[in-house]
Amino acid sequence: MSEKTMKTSSTMFQEKHHNHTKRERCLGLTLGKGVPFVLSSLLMASIFCLFFLYNPNSLTLTPHHDHDIFENPSQNQENAITTKVSSSPPQKEQKPCDLSKGHWVQALGGSSNYYTNSSCPFIPDGKNCFKHGRKDTDFLNWRWKPEQCELPRFDPKTFLNIVRGKKMAFIGDSVARNHMDSLLCLLSQNEIPKDIYKDSEDRFHTWYFPSHDFTLMSMWSRFLVVGEERMVNGTGTSIFDMQLDKVDSDWAKELPNLDYTVISDGHWFFRGMRLHEGGKEVGCVYCNEPNVTSYNVDFPLRKAFRTAFRVINECKECSSKRMVTVLRTFAPAHFENGFWNTGGYCNRTCPTDESEVDFEKFDWHLRNVQMEEFERARSEGEEKGHKFEVVDVSRAMLMRADGHPGEHWGNKWMKGYNDCTHWCLPGPVDMWSEFLLAVLKRGAAFELNQT
Ligand SMILES: *[C@@H]1O[C@H](CO)[C@@H](O)[C@H](O)[C@H]1NC(C)=O
Ligand SMILES: *[C@@H]1O[C@H](CO)[C@@H](O)[C@H](O)[C@H]1NC(C)=O
Ligand SMILES: *[C@@H]1O[C@H](CO)[C@@H](O)[C@H](O)[C@H]1NC(C)=O
Ligand SMILES: *[C@@H]1O[C@H](CO)[C@@H](O)[C@H](O)[C@H]1NC(C)=O
Repeated sequence: MSEKTMKTSSTMFQEKHHNHTKRERCLGLTLGKGVPFVLSSLLMASIFCLFFLYNPNSLTLTPHHDHDIFENPSQNQENAITTKVSSSPPQKEQKPCDLSKGHWVQALGGSSNYYTNSSCPFIPDGKNCFKHGRKDTDFLNWRWKPEQCELPRFDPKTFLNIVRGKKMAFIGDSVARNHMDSLLCLLSQNEIPKDIYKDSEDRFHTWYFPSHDFTLMSMWSRFLVVGEERMVNGTGTSIFDMQLDKVDSDWAKELPNLDYTVISDGHWFFRGMRLHEGGKEVGCVYCNEPNVTSYNVDFPLRKAFRTAFRVINECKECSSKRMVTVLRTFAPAHFENGFWNTGGYCNRTCPTDESEVDFEKFDWHLRNVQMEEFERARSEGEEKGHKFEVVDVSRAMLMRADGHPGEHWGNKWMKGYNDCTHWCLPGPVDMWSEFLLAVLKRGAAFELNQT
């Protein structure tokens, strides 16, 4: 069906049914604008990341230092990471349902109605969309329906029982943190955790659930590997020196203490980079120099995941305690009609239809790169006793342009700019934990069978 046809038919549909239900209203909306939801070009994404990823919550931005805002690592930061991926890949024994393939179905009390901004005290200000004026609520009323099965609702008690006595860390960028904050809200409906550690920039934060002896941590890492901004005369250049084969030890040194490692990353890679391996420069991203090999963003991203997974597979304490590594696949940003700094916005109020999703898009390619590295790590690691799972949310989230804060993120310094990268709490990001729980349950059932 062409866009035109869809447009016409949806218009007719709306005209005929004045009292259409929400779903119908959403369908009309969605199809009626079958236009480009495809905004996020590389560039867009890149720029916009610079900014938002750095300053998630507290943006101290002075109008004359644009660069600092986006790129000066010392300036705050945000938070950390979200990880998730969906669907665990089929195992040989029995083929579990592929949770990553499906569609959003309307459901009052859908997957984002577990808490509100008054029942969850852990919503970061910038994700508290209703507090900052978001009025539409239809975006909460959808649940993810995998093609071949149901994705059970999130049950905090079940989750806490599975992770009793364990330590789980979310490692990655601010979207990883966004996921962990969602999980905190979900779990706090059963037990309020204690805030036991936080560094000055809130990059590393630890929560403890005493009744379940469960520790939940966020560990912020822009690139998973070492990446430092090049400074000239004390000023950031926006160019990063990347050591693609050197893991960021801030998170990696904690590995031996962990039982679950939820890894995700991606939004920081859209920027100028000098790439190094074995101490030698091997290429660059967004540069144009005759003697330097120029790579696209997917190259350093692939190498970063390969290095992170290699370090995990080399961790002997990890395999002996049967640490589970979970990849949460890339979650796309949804700027429409512009970049983050050129008026791009994301004000949809319904999910987009899968037919509108462009799987040729770079976002999807990045997800595939992550999956390839994940599969490689899994086949190497499982022999040594490492466990890998995936929360592959990319496909589902490509359809959720309605789930971002947009203009409702409350930042006084950046009025007029939209956050189309992070996700509202509550919101469709809560589904990631349903997915995570489903994956953990499979793992737990497997363990039971083994013993
Ligand atoms: C929750 O959202 C409402 C708007 O729906 C807002 O008035 C209120 O201030 C928010 N409460 C908190 C605690 O953020
Ligand atoms: C750095 O500062 C020195 C001394 O002030 C100056 O000579 C040089 O041109 C500056 N370099 C750049 C790239 O601005
Ligand atoms: C590129 O490499 C050639 C041969 O090594 C060298 O002569 C030339 O100066 C280099 N050009 C640049 C721009 O570095
Ligand atoms: C979204 O914002 C654009 C630009 O401000 C506006 O033209 C459009 O009508 C808005 N759409 C919705 C559904 O609010």
